[in-house]
Amino acid sequence: KIETSGKVIQSPCGPIIHGLEDVLVKTTTISDIDGKNGILWYRGYRIDELAKYSTFEEVAYLILYGKLPNRKELEDFKALLASYRDLPSEVYSVVTTLGKVKAHPMLVLEAGVAALGAFDENPNDYSKEANLRRAIKLTSALPIMMAAHYRASRGLDLVKPRKDLSHAANFLYMMFGKEPDETSTKAIDLYLVLHIDHEVPASTFATLVAISTWTDLYSAIAAGIATLKGPLHGGANEAAMKQYLEIGKPESARPYVEKLLAEGKRLMGVGHRVYKAYDPRARIYKELVKQLSEAKGDMTWYRIAEEVEKVVLEKLAPKKLYPNIDFWSGIAMYLLGIPYEYYTPIFAMSRVVGWSAHAIEYLDQHRLFRPRACYTGPHDVPYIPIDKR
Ligand code: ACO
Repeated sequence: KIETSGKVIQSPCGPIIHGLEDVLVKTTTISDIDGKNGILWYRGYRIDELAKYSTFEEVAYLILYGKLPNRKELEDFKALLASYRDLPSEVYSVVTTLGKVKAHPMLVLEAGVAALGAFDENPNDYSKEANLRRAIKLTSALPIMMAAHYRASRGLDLVKPRKDLSHAANFLYMMFGKEPDETSTKAIDLYLVLHIDHEVPASTFATLVAISTWTDLYSAIAAGIATLKGPLHGGANEAAMKQYLEIGKPESARPYVEKLLAEGKRLMGVGHRVYKAYDPRARIYKELVKQLSEAKGDMTWYRIAEEVEKVVLEKLAPKKLYPNIDFWSGIAMYLLGIPYEYYTPIFAMSRVVGWSAHAIEYLDQHRLFRPRACYTGPHDVPYIPIDKR
């Protein structure tokens, strides 16, 4: 008998835990979620504190190395990240060629990461040190790929990365060709901090399944990117922002949501497999979105989201459905002038750190993932030659 709080399907071979809900696949010291009370910790630190006091670089170090860096360690880590701010010309070429044919940037990231793997100096080195180096390299590479794709898809000249800027500022600089202001940089930096890891969602699990076969880290990260692409996972921020645009003005929010729910449809940016309370990341990012909206002089989208939130808290909270991070994050991306299709890649730009840390951690407790399926078809079917079928 398998005990689970999740949904169980009774099959002829025994119970199937649908969607692996609540199934434990590994131990971890990277992040922990209290879904009932809406709390998230990275390496034991509450994200509220990290969001307030730390930058993406500091939190990336924490996730990868298991401790907060001192000043020297942080400076060295920033220098290492900056030293990897370049791509082989062949990888630039993959990314920009796909940009010209308007491929979805998540597909481009998958291809770009695989292409970067082809340039690994020592592909047969599976040591933890080599994988940490690859993780840092990938963290530096993803924003470059995305910005190069963005500019190529719009016929703009590439903007080469700058080593003197922070990770967040360099990304905006490569996208738009000018140094970003402090509020815009903070919006990206905080977004990256809040998305860096989240225990084992579908994309991290995909990374783990891949790495469990002893494939290389690049391929495992490409699997994570492929899985994040779906609208039920990373793609929800884009969908949530499109909802607000469709709503158009705060007064239209209530009737829009009520109609959508009456039709049995889902509100994007709401609900979570683990959180049965307000997503703590959403709570923190909501405040940032408010500040950014004020700084940009455009409160429309924040106000619409606030009205939608009221209806959600009234009608869906009793079913333990609350706004998740995607409910608010799309608005920030929109205000920064980032096109929709880049919202999920920015998520990947952060989560690449968590995927890598989980893959590295799993290799220490390694076992090949190989579940079973319950076969419900016939056996020993008589073979009929093609002319007699
Ligand atoms: N709007 C309305 N109703 C919802 C929503 C929603 N967004 N999400 C779940 N429900 C309802 C379901 O219809 C179902 O109702 P029922 O029991 O009356 O049939 C109930 O809540 C449970 O739904 P499940 O699909 O079983 O819940 P699950 O844990 O599988 O879903 C998920 C989690 C996929 C995130 C879901 O809430 C959803 O589709 N949300 C919208 C997409 C989204 O915002 N995704 C981002 C997730 S966070 C992230 O990836 C960063």
